[in-house]
Amino acid sequence: MKLWLDTGSLDEIREINRWGVLSGITTNPTLIGKERKPFETHLKEIATEVDGPVSGEVTATDKDGMVEEGLKLAGIAPNIVVKCPVTPDGFAAVRELGSQGIKTNMTLCFSPNQALLAAEAGATYISPFLGRVDDISNDGMNLLSEIVEVYRTQGYATLVLAASLRHPQHVVEAAKVGADVATMPFSVFSKLANHPLTDIGLRNFLDDWDKYQKALKS
Ligand code: E4P
Repeated sequence: MKLWLDTGSLDEIREINRWGVLSGITTNPTLIGKERKPFETHLKEIATEVDGPVSGEVTATDKDGMVEEGLKLAGIAPNIVVKCPVTPDGFAAVRELGSQGIKTNMTLCFSPNQALLAAEAGATYISPFLGRVDDISNDGMNLLSEIVEVYRTQGYATLVLAASLRHPQHVVEAAKVGADVATMPFSVFSKLANHPLTDIGLRNFLDDWDKYQKALKS
């Protein structure tokens, strides 16, 4: 499972990129809006920073408007993936963008049927929003698992991108049910490496090494 950051922040991208494990970025209008920078130039900066797909979302809601915006976004950098919502116009736009060789990510997916439609439209990625399903007391992981099962059973090439992840256990579960990609905020990504026994063990090893060096000199 590939690990992506869900952010518009270049600082966060640079920090995780430093680890050598970052495979891509998702953004959305809310995340981009927080950065207070012109959208297209900012998206270009992100796309230059990362060696992997970068999702930029359209804000038009009609098919022609989404295609027009999508073509513009795709022209920013070769690794841009155009993000469209799972609406009837979104499916039509994804079909059209795909026919022009543009990669797409269908967003705001909350049902296996929406995922089925995205796959039939030829989307490159489908993004089920697990955390938002959990927020309304439903089972987000079950949604992910159903979509993975439908796609594997039917042999769809569309990749399943687990989105709206809220904590490290979401990441483990997404990997277990077979998501192709997990995208998460910096707050979640930065916790993936943490374990108190790693910290204690490392401190003990270094203390013991220090004692050994001192013993050699005495
Ligand atoms: C993914 O592409 C979305 O931007 C994101 O995961 C939404 O997450 P949220 O529900 O925490 O806003």
